Amino acid sequence: MPAIGLGLGFYGKNNEPYGTYPECGIEPHTDFSGHVIPPPPGCGLNTQKAVYIWLNKVGGRRLDCCNSYYNQKSVARGIQQSGVNRSEIFILSKVGPEFGLGFNDTINQAMGILQELQTSWIDLLLVHWPVMKHPRESYIPKSSDPTCNMSNPLTYDEKSCRLSTWSAMITLFNRGIVRSIGVSNYNTTHLQEIIDAKMLLPSINQVAFNPYNYRTGRADLLKFCQKNNIQLVAYSPIGALDAHQFPVTHEGKVTGMYPTLLQDPLIISLARTYKRTEAQVLLRWIHQQGVASNPRSMNETHMKENLDILSNPFTISDDDMIRIANLVQDTCEVDPSWYECVGDGNLP
Ligand SMILES: NC(=O)c1ccc[n+]([C@@H]2O[C@H](COP(=O)([O-])OP(=O)(O)OC[C@H]3O[C@@H](n4cnc5c(N)ncnc54)[C@H](OP(=O)(O)O)[C@@H]3O)[C@@H](O)[C@H]2O)c1
Repeated sequence: MPAIGLGLGFYGKNNEPYGTYPECGIEPHTDFSGHVIPPPPGCGLNTQKAVYIWLNKVGGRRLDCCNSYYNQKSVARGIQQSGVNRSEIFILSKVGPEFGLGFNDTINQAMGILQELQTSWIDLLLVHWPVMKHPRESYIPKSSDPTCNMSNPLTYDEKSCRLSTWSAMITLFNRGIVRSIGVSNYNTTHLQEIIDAKMLLPSINQVAFNPYNYRTGRADLLKFCQKNNIQLVAYSPIGALDAHQFPVTHEGKVTGMYPTLLQDPLIISLARTYKRTEAQVLLRWIHQQGVASNPRSMNETHMKENLDILSNPFTISDDDMIRIANLVQDTCEVDPSWYECVGDGNLP
């Protein structure tokens, strides 16, 4: 798997607010009450253009897709426009949480993804969330599996739902429809369930991973994954800077928020030291811990910069690695409105 991929979630039409639902639904789709939602005009073009630039202009090869991003047909158009052969591209996609999980629904979702992406295989398929319903959303997705049917408290069983979903993933892998399988937003308890069930282990776990959440959960998760040969992959590696602010502290107290992680004084000073950009310092810090990442970008220069940390590498010293790891942590107490903090997200 190429270590740096292109994130494909959250390509709003024209700087639409982060997480606007559906974020960029060019494809008409049916909502959970059965209403057909038409595509917003012009939507999806950003996705198509980003995929084209990534594959054709800057030579990126991994695409981080998802059923719930509602833009996979645009991804397929971008691939076609790029002229790059499918066999050279590593496509990662995800099932759930906005569509049903459980055995049959997971198999059906995978088949739908193949169609949308116009491919006969997926290189890596992930279970997007350990629960079907995203904590931020109010709707409850339907599932034909009683253990996944959240509207029926008598049959709903989160753990059984996760395991039947995982058994569908193994079936897809055994059938050769997906070449590898993994999970996303799983904590150590969720991973341990699979280990205890003696099932095939996920090859990767994709979670939010950047210096501001490292000591509050990710360092331990990284150790656990390394011990079990599960590759960790960072989402929001640059801190989703168009969406999220980060705490400024003075004498241990939070006194304000930085507009973005790229404005952290330590990151700025290290960018000067290593003669790289702030984003490159963040991505390299992640890479040197053996963690892959998939920064999202619509900007060709940024995409090049992001790939450059591999093709024109530099090394952050051990001391500086520790200084970055010791940055103030962005906890849910600091920003309870951030989507990862809302409700019982079961996050690592
Ligand atoms: N599994 C999950 O549950 C999950 C959750 C969230 C995200 N994801 C995946 O991870 C991807 C990335 O995460 P994210 O979108 O939350 O945030 P992110 O990649 O940390 O941040 C994206 C922002 O960074 C900017 N950026 C990218 N490269 C840059 C550079 N070199 N210099 C300056 N700015 C740069 C982009 O702006 P420009 O367009 O101007 O470059 C964009 O505003 C998503 O697209 C999605 O594929 C997965």
